[in-house]
Amino acid sequence: MATIAVAGGTGGVGKTFVEILEQQNKFRVVVLSRGAPKKEDTSNTVHLQIDYEDVSAMTKQLEQYNVHTIISAIGLISEETSKSQLNLIEAADKSKSTARFIPSEYSFIQTADLLAIDPSIQFWLDAANLLKASSLEYTRVIPGFFMDYWGMPHVKTNLQPYSFGIDISSRKAAIPGDGNDVICMTYTYDMAHYIIKALDLDEWPEFSVVVGDQVTYNQILAMAEEILGEKFDVTYDGIDQIEKGNVTNPPMPSDLGYSEEELTEVTALVSRLVINGVFDLPKENRLNALFPEVNPITMKELLEKSWRRTEPHLE
Ligand SMILES: NC(=O)c1ccc[n+]([C@@H]2O[C@H](COP(=O)([O-])OP(=O)(O)OC[C@H]3O[C@@H](n4cnc5c(N)ncnc54)[C@H](OP(=O)(O)O)[C@@H]3O)[C@@H](O)[C@H]2O)c1
Repeated sequence: MATIAVAGGTGGVGKTFVEILEQQNKFRVVVLSRGAPKKEDTSNTVHLQIDYEDVSAMTKQLEQYNVHTIISAIGLISEETSKSQLNLIEAADKSKSTARFIPSEYSFIQTADLLAIDPSIQFWLDAANLLKASSLEYTRVIPGFFMDYWGMPHVKTNLQPYSFGIDISSRKAAIPGDGNDVICMTYTYDMAHYIIKALDLDEWPEFSVVVGDQVTYNQILAMAEEILGEKFDVTYDGIDQIEKGNVTNPPMPSDLGYSEEELTEVTALVSRLVINGVFDLPKENRLNALFPEVNPITMKELLEKSWRRTEPHLE
């Protein structure tokens, strides 16, 4: 039984990986967290408190628990979180038991030429460069946008609530550009299924692309309007507006805890990414082709299941 550690396994994406790993019943799972464990260990799952600043202590813990593969799902939002992941990569490289590492990424293919659009791409590039220089085998997981956002609050998900482009609850949309940019999307649980299957591959490509569906905002809007039988109140932010950061926030779930300026910053960033086509993912290296038995949910199915009825579903 291989031991898989999930760093940030208490967060949105990390929890999903832990749940799917546990369901397989073929791995020992180690959940790495900065805090004291809040959950009881089980026969196959251990919750381990770690100090991301102490590389040698982390190396010892990885060896003590015989961790073979690390899936990082640390929320990479700052220099501090990026440094934690870089230290974990260093510890994994030093650990005699650890051979493989999946960095926290789970988005589009982040390259240096996109830094002007999104400076935080540097965190992902730093991790990829350190992995390249290490003796670890790694793969960068690219699922596009998480589909979960358009099924909230009904869809089963561990992600924090947020509205991007179309807020189905309020029947309002603030769409970037002309709404025809292609966006590849994957439901978090489908991504986790693919990645857990990829753990058994003998070799990993640099990029593991997973695509649940390929849609545009206009298509999502048309599907949602059809399912609900209602026309939405829609505005489009032009390219000039987006470039100036003068964007429209769609209505947000309540109690997010962000200021209007912070919301606008996120909307402007994601709008720039969408209109630059970053979510139109390459056809190469798709795990979909390697694992045809996984049937990822499409956007239409997710919308149908989330909005044709009101009770929680996708259990
Ligand atoms: N493509 C998409 O649509 C999409 C959407 C959401 C997220 N993502 C990506 O998925 C990844 C995970 O995101 P998430 O939303 O799941 O993250 P999250 O829930 O915000 O955070 C995950 C975990 O990171 C750990 N963490 C926080 N600060 C840390 C620090 N300084 N050092 C080490 N660990 C720290 C925390 O675990 P402990 O407190 O237990 O240590 C937390 O539970 C990110 O790379 C994000 O960009 C992609």
